[in-house]
Amino acid sequence: MSKQAIGIDIGGTGIKGALVDAEKGVLLSDRERIDTPDGGEPDDILNTVVQIFERFDQLDANAPVGVCFPAIIRDGCTMSASNISKKWIGLEAEKLFEARLGRPIHFINDADAAGVGEVQFGAAKGKNGLTILTTLGTGIGSAMIYDGVLIPNSELGHLELDGKQAEKRASASVKEDEDLSWEDWAKRLQKYYEYLESLFSPDLFLIGGGVSKNAGDFLPLLELQTEILPAMLRNNAGIIGAAYLATLGPN
Ligand code: BGC
Repeated sequence: MSKQAIGIDIGGTGIKGALVDAEKGVLLSDRERIDTPDGGEPDDILNTVVQIFERFDQLDANAPVGVCFPAIIRDGCTMSASNISKKWIGLEAEKLFEARLGRPIHFINDADAAGVGEVQFGAAKGKNGLTILTTLGTGIGSAMIYDGVLIPNSELGHLELDGKQAEKRASASVKEDEDLSWEDWAKRLQKYYEYLESLFSPDLFLIGGGVSKNAGDFLPLLELQTEILPAMLRNNAGIIGAAYLATLGPN
């Protein structure tokens, strides 16, 4: 197993990458970030990913590459598009990235990659039972992990909450757009996590996404039966998880 890998995390707002020590689960380089191009069109996202990749390719031209993406991924195809262009739906995205990067990649949903990162190196390591990681960002992503094994493409951000998709009520971008206080946002999160509890009876909730660095502002406001913790790898969980998976080989 190669120790170094490049992880690239494509989000609705930013595209981030780094060179990762995939044995230790830590970044070996600075994180490179470029805004996701407006509209999230396939060509524009591909071009941005190439730009980020080239920077790290110079550091290690043999490093395996993992790419995570904010959509349902089946057999290398992107099958949904909530916060990116609808043109992604049904695209053979993995092949497109491989053609542009000139390398095989491991391709996976962004929240699933974060879940894998947390299982290997973070707060879900060695946890039995059901861990649900949710990433609170532009949308809400989810990873369901049972006894350390990922159940992919769970898409729990699209459950209905107050008559809308949960991610349109409780994501971090909604907090920002509606200028919600931590208290008001926490009320929505309370409902959302209670709902998840009633459906899945999890053993642990993990909170990822950029806002996880502010966990102290909102997690103490939640009253749940389930333990709820910030992702240990914070917003790098996706990069690290994708890089780790890349060392196991392309999909
Ligand atoms: C997408 C998910 C993704 C999440 C976080 C949602 O809108 O449907 O696939 O994991 O956003 O990016």
